[in-house]
Amino acid sequence: MAAKHGNFKTSFGFLMAAAGSAVGLGNIWGFPSNAAQNGGALFLFIYLILAFLLAYPVLVAEITIGRYSKKSMPDTLASLTDIKYLSIVGRCIGHSSIIVAILINGFYMIVAGWMLAYLFIPFMQFFSMPDAEIFLSSQSVSRDAGFAVIFVIISSAVIYQGVDKGIERASSVLMPLLLILLLGLTVYVLCQDGAVKGVALYLYPNELHFSAALILNALGQAFFSLSLGVGVMLIYGSYLNSDANLPKLAAQVTLIDVSVAFLAGLLIIPAMTVAESHGLLIHDTEGLLLAGPDLIFQVLPALFDTMGWGGAIVSVIFFLLMVVAALTSAFSILEVVTVYFIDTLSISRHQAGLLTAIINSLVSIIIAAYFTELFDLTVFFSTSLMQPLLGLMICIYCGWLWHRDTCLQSLAEGYPELRSSLFWKVWPFYLRFICPLLIISCFFYN
Ligand code: TRP
Repeated sequence: MAAKHGNFKTSFGFLMAAAGSAVGLGNIWGFPSNAAQNGGALFLFIYLILAFLLAYPVLVAEITIGRYSKKSMPDTLASLTDIKYLSIVGRCIGHSSIIVAILINGFYMIVAGWMLAYLFIPFMQFFSMPDAEIFLSSQSVSRDAGFAVIFVIISSAVIYQGVDKGIERASSVLMPLLLILLLGLTVYVLCQDGAVKGVALYLYPNELHFSAALILNALGQAFFSLSLGVGVMLIYGSYLNSDANLPKLAAQVTLIDVSVAFLAGLLIIPAMTVAESHGLLIHDTEGLLLAGPDLIFQVLPALFDTMGWGGAIVSVIFFLLMVVAALTSAFSILEVVTVYFIDTLSISRHQAGLLTAIINSLVSIIIAAYFTELFDLTVFFSTSLMQPLLGLMICIYCGWLWHRDTCLQSLAEGYPELRSSLFWKVWPFYLRFICPLLIISCFFYN
């Protein structure tokens, strides 16, 4: 069956698009920040376990139900069960996932806009435009909202071109570029004085502070990073052909995602100790490594400043890396909302894309205007609360309500030896019992 919204031309195209969605600011900023504050290697270890044992099975579920139904999340969940009221509940869950997607996009575009603003700073310095430099580097509603809207427009232009000509083509160029930038920067930073200390800090935990918050952070990080819960992977799965091997593709996406997070840790944490060796402050008043905005927008720019003109180049490469990472992630969130409007309002891709761009811009503008009140709240509500909850619902609908034979048949397309595989022996049980239990217990723990 051909998908009505489009199709990826190749499995490689899917891999680049799905990995592009997964690899984003969450990996390059969120993961190192989290690792820096939560005991380095210990966080890395727990994150790896949760990514493969908890997020991967949910990823397979999302892609599988997506390829089966070829519709957006509300219709997909509704179609998995014959029980009327559960079908209605599924539809409602699907609608709420779209609201969550819009909220995630709302704050994500603001953060992506910051990266874009910082990308231009060295150019302003070069052309001696101090006012522009101050505007770009200081938080203001006009900067945050303006750059968020620019980011929405750039990403929407790609969505506008459709699945294979837009998302697939752009991701297939941007993802290899991202890997080259990341590898190049990491090698460069690791060659600087003071980097070895950062590597040790990252990879050898000197103090084990195992806590509930740590597990919850790692769970949130894994779900956010693999873009789970809001139907991104479901929609990308719906663009896959029937000959694609879903468990294998999902494993490759997970592997790329965790590898990039790992590499980003190897870039950011050593960069901090390099900064320290230049006399810069890298700890907060409680002695914890700086994280979040302080890390990206103070420590690193200050480090680049110490490197002379070479620092300007490193700065441009670093923020370009961030922009590229954010772009491929933005495609996926905007695509989910666009497909939703195409399905529910029966409008064309162009109309739906425009509507999505307008709504998402408005949400970003509102969050930027009431930044103190809304930003953290939106992040917490959409990513810490709703994403794991929606993930739980996907486990329940795919694992418990969907007919096992249909599920088997669906997965076996592109994976004929599935029935006798270890995957089929483990995954259904896993999705039904272990994943829901783990997600729920992470909640209770908190
Ligand atoms: N995974 C991306 C990151 O790590 C962000 C992202 C893209 C996302 N699409 C998503 C997060 C959908 C949640 C839901 O930065």
